[in-house]
Amino acid sequence: MNRHLVAAEVTRWTQWLIPESSLSSIGWRRGLGRGGTLLLVPLSSVLSPLVPRGERRKSLMQPCCPHTALAATGSAVTLRRMSWKVLVTARTFKDVGGPAMEALKKAGCEVVIPPRFGPLADSELLPLLEGVDAVLCSPDAYSAAVLSSSRAARLKIVSRWGVGYDSIDVAAATRLGIAVAYVPGLLNETVADYTFALLLALARRVHEGHAWMAKGDWKLFWGSDVSGKTLGIIGCGRIGLAVARRAAGFNLRLLGHDVVPSAEPEKLGIKMVALDELLAESDFVTLHAALTPQSRGLIGEQQLRKMKSTAFLINAGRGALLDESALVRALQDGWIAGAALDTFTKEPLPSDHPLRYAPNVLLTPHLASFARENGMRVSLAAAQAIVDLMNGKQPHSLVNPEVLSSSALRARL
Ligand SMILES: NC(=O)c1ccc[n+]([C@@H]2O[C@H](COP(=O)([O-])OP(=O)(O)OC[C@H]3O[C@@H](n4cnc5c(N)ncnc54)[C@H](O)[C@@H]3O)[C@@H](O)[C@H]2O)c1
Repeated sequence: MNRHLVAAEVTRWTQWLIPESSLSSIGWRRGLGRGGTLLLVPLSSVLSPLVPRGERRKSLMQPCCPHTALAATGSAVTLRRMSWKVLVTARTFKDVGGPAMEALKKAGCEVVIPPRFGPLADSELLPLLEGVDAVLCSPDAYSAAVLSSSRAARLKIVSRWGVGYDSIDVAAATRLGIAVAYVPGLLNETVADYTFALLLALARRVHEGHAWMAKGDWKLFWGSDVSGKTLGIIGCGRIGLAVARRAAGFNLRLLGHDVVPSAEPEKLGIKMVALDELLAESDFVTLHAALTPQSRGLIGEQQLRKMKSTAFLINAGRGALLDESALVRALQDGWIAGAALDTFTKEPLPSDHPLRYAPNVLLTPHLASFARENGMRVSLAAAQAIVDLMNGKQPHSLVNPEVLSSSALRARL
């Protein structure tokens, strides 16, 4: 008789068929598994040599992780994982996803790359979700309809390449037992650097100088000073505070506004004020608030009219924090001096969108996270969340950690 244990998936929640002779070779008695040979094997009972035999037997009747199987040669027991199918739609993976892809494959995942990276429309996304255990995505919309679709019935985790998870219906995911992971913290410095690049370019008209040079011209014009001015930070979370740390080196006075009180901003010299005061006093206003139903449209006509006519607005947060048509009017009619935008309500920004033709505007295509070395780290972290859950471990950063104690949880810890 072959002394290797052979494991085969016989139901969706994976029961393992193991020859009886092999059971005795690793010390388990007949009768503990279903029908003497059909066995539900918990991972923990095999991995920990410290678990007393009685404990092991007790746990044999529990369901096990669907992706794990056991193999034994003589007395040596090793772990074999069944594959999780992982759909990767994060557009960032194209260039900086190599090591993360390797990590997923090494962990035993089957990686599926669609013909086109995201964000994908529901009609493109749904057929791709068929039979998929995990997705690694950028801002694809995981609405309640998508998550509860029968095509997503096997989905156990949505791992978001990034920080903002406003495109995911987290409440629906939690209800359905789907974990939502993200990578908070890893993008702080990268996005803060980019915010400062936008602020400096806008104030000193760097992009305009380049455009004239590229046209073969040599044109001189005046920009605005940065040093000694006031920077207003709306949303003093991780990225907002990283922007504040940079501002100290530019001799900027700092104002902040947030809906959640915290001691951190003041430690960095930020004076926390009401939104109207920040808008009225700042020479630069930068948006880093999370997009929520309450912050959608936070900066509209009324708020833009409160800003100085010499002030600049920077948005590397989310497009929908801003009423874009009000901003177009603000730029055309000179309510403010200029704006630099990296994020838009609709992405890609339509080619005929009035913002593209507005005066004193600097536009970039949602690039704030796109710094290569850090991109690799973020990709690895987003992939690791999937591997962890697949292995029955709690992923490092969950938006909905409460899902782990829910009876609806689709993964098995
Ligand atoms: N452009 C990009 O590529 C890019 C990259 C990463 C993150 N982002 C955006 O940056 C945002 C901030 O990221 P973070 O890591 O600092 O998140 P965070 O959660 O640490 O900070 C967000 C802050 O916004 C505050 N906030 C929420 N509603 C508010 C409101 N109505 N008014 C004022 N403040 C409000 C929160 O209290 C919190 O302090 C993300 O949610 C994401 O949308 C953009």
